[in-house]
Amino acid sequence: MKVCIFKSSVEATHEAAKLFIEQIQRKPDCVLGLATGSTPIKLYKELIQACKEGKISFKRVKTFNLDEYVGLDRLHTQSYYRFMCEQLFDHVDIDKRNCHVPNGQAKDIEKEEQQYEAAIEAAGGIDLQLLGIGGNGHIGFNEPGCNLDCGTHLEALTQQTIQDNARLFFNGDEAQVPRQALTMGVGTILRARQCVLLAFGKSKQAAVQGMIEGPITKANPASVLQRHPDTIVLLDALAAEKLKKSV
Ligand code: GLP
Repeated sequence: MKVCIFKSSVEATHEAAKLFIEQIQRKPDCVLGLATGSTPIKLYKELIQACKEGKISFKRVKTFNLDEYVGLDRLHTQSYYRFMCEQLFDHVDIDKRNCHVPNGQAKDIEKEEQQYEAAIEAAGGIDLQLLGIGGNGHIGFNEPGCNLDCGTHLEALTQQTIQDNARLFFNGDEAQVPRQALTMGVGTILRARQCVLLAFGKSKQAAVQGMIEGPITKANPASVLQRHPDTIVLLDALAAEKLKKSV
């Protein structure tokens, strides 16, 4: 695991954007794993800008998102499908048929889980996976206590995640937050050829410290990235503040 600390999230984001731009330039038909949340929004803006300037094209790029809430319509203001359209897909030259987000409304969830994994495999596997981290160490929606080997699956959200994400729902109402999500598993994430994890701010300090310096444990699912052969962690100074060793 390579860890880089930047003065601000702007610089860390710029470094992540460089990695994505280089990946698309090197392999125009690459497969990207994408993430939602507030953390990657500025990165998506940089990718949109690079596309507008003609530095990259998404015409042959395929994307797979990490996760989706169960039960939300794709057009719900908080669905991750809608988030991706608003933050990236609608502003670049990507073919929406190449944009995959787990279907949280699938009638047969088990079938959806298998099809999602099969689609990733059929695309040739993920070249570059973007990750954020939850305040409790979750990646995608793999919550503390999750199985560290599994593929795409249904996950019950923890109370902390429901509370953390309620701010984005109408009136910040926790009752509006779905209780379950479909998420790539930790196993799926570990199969990506390269991972880039972004974490910014005080609320991520404990999770970041556990991920980098703690033991590999279900209590902090992101810690399993220590086992991944090519993961780059990009932090702002605040998120890195609890790290004991300077990296
Ligand atoms: C969400 C997503 C994660 C994301 C995390 C952090 O619940 N499922 O993929 O990394 O929480 O979100 P934020 O970037 O808003 O802090």
